[in-house]
Amino acid sequence: MTERCDLLITNVHAATMDPSLPGAYGVVEDAAVAVTGNKIVWIGPRRELPETAADLVIDGEGQWLTPGLIDCHTHLVYGGHRASEFARRLGGESYEDVARAGGGILSTVRATRAASAEELYHAAEPRLKALMSEGVTTLEIKSGYGLDPDNELKQLRVARRLAQHYPVNILTTCLAAHALPPEYDGRADEYIDLVCNEILPAVAREQLADAVDMFCENIAFSVEQCQRVISAARKLDLPVKVHAEQLASTGATKMAALAGALSVEHIEYITDEDVAAMAESGTAAVLLPGAFYTLKETRVPPVDKLRAAGVPMAISTDLNPGSCPIASLRLMMNMGCNLFGLTPAEALAGVTRSAARALGICCSRGVLRPGLRADMALWPMETPDQLAYEVGALKPAEMFLGGQHVTAG
Ligand code: NIG
Ligand code: FE
Repeated sequence: MTERCDLLITNVHAATMDPSLPGAYGVVEDAAVAVTGNKIVWIGPRRELPETAADLVIDGEGQWLTPGLIDCHTHLVYGGHRASEFARRLGGESYEDVARAGGGILSTVRATRAASAEELYHAAEPRLKALMSEGVTTLEIKSGYGLDPDNELKQLRVARRLAQHYPVNILTTCLAAHALPPEYDGRADEYIDLVCNEILPAVAREQLADAVDMFCENIAFSVEQCQRVISAARKLDLPVKVHAEQLASTGATKMAALAGALSVEHIEYITDEDVAAMAESGTAAVLLPGAFYTLKETRVPPVDKLRAAGVPMAISTDLNPGSCPIASLRLMMNMGCNLFGLTPAEALAGVTRSAARALGICCSRGVLRPGLRADMALWPMETPDQLAYEVGALKPAEMFLGGQHVTAG
């Protein structure tokens, strides 16, 4: 009997990233992929494909098919820029010095509050297009530069609007606990009350966030304050993520893992005990080599220990105006290898399967497998190692979002 599907891609090699297939990339050579609706319905060696009739057949010409890339940690919607801060840091001031002097995140808060939703939308578009042009089909966008109910909601609405106008999946995260706004100076606990009692409930009412994040650090919020944010998120049924141990060891990672966080992010300063807690709870590690590079950090996250413990390691841009104004997920893959010691296959897992874990969407994305969304990129390359090795010239030849052909960026 002849099977039917909407789209059939043949004559490709597939780096499925399916851990149940052999090899680090889960490769199927000379593969065929059948798609019906927005899902993959069959994938395997072309010679095993049952007789299939398709509305559209694409000859992949021996190129490589991968899951669409996932950038699981961005702050892509913001006002202004921080080029002058970059110059100050080059002159010797640290990221923390600049933040304590009222610059850093708070300078972007001033610019974001002053910008209209329209202005934020237009400022975000080139960053989004840059990510999409490199094969990104899913990304996360955090708020955290509004720090009051109106401006946090404004940022999240802009992120949702981008998703309506661009062929890309966008998950949004409320990061109201990112920094203490100036009007709450000396009153951090009261600001956390505002986050828990007003901002998060308002965000949840409008369904503006898929998750809640917080910055647990000496220059931001304490472990106890973050625990209160986590409890508030739980009451609203929102999963949590934590910016943890970027600049110092604080206990944030262990607290987040015990609270069942989806992910902890940055984590340069985590301990063996933290790694064990993450492995136990299934909390993913989100590695942000672009922030490490930009801030000229010297302490690397304990990749060997995370690997040995089986903790999923995602890689992301952290795209933001301060610690990583770099809109290139492929460069992050390269930095993940060169700066943090990942293998090229771990780097690809970091922007597909493990990034999906960090966002809580691994049941639908991040791997090429029947039943999952047909978000895919087709690459003109000879080996998937090239994705972490080459930056700039290697771009996807074709991209598919839910089985639909999309034009990159
Ligand atoms: O992930 N660490 C805190 N937040 C961002 C930086 C934001 C900024 O500097 O504007 C980060 O690095
Ligand atoms: Fe971040």
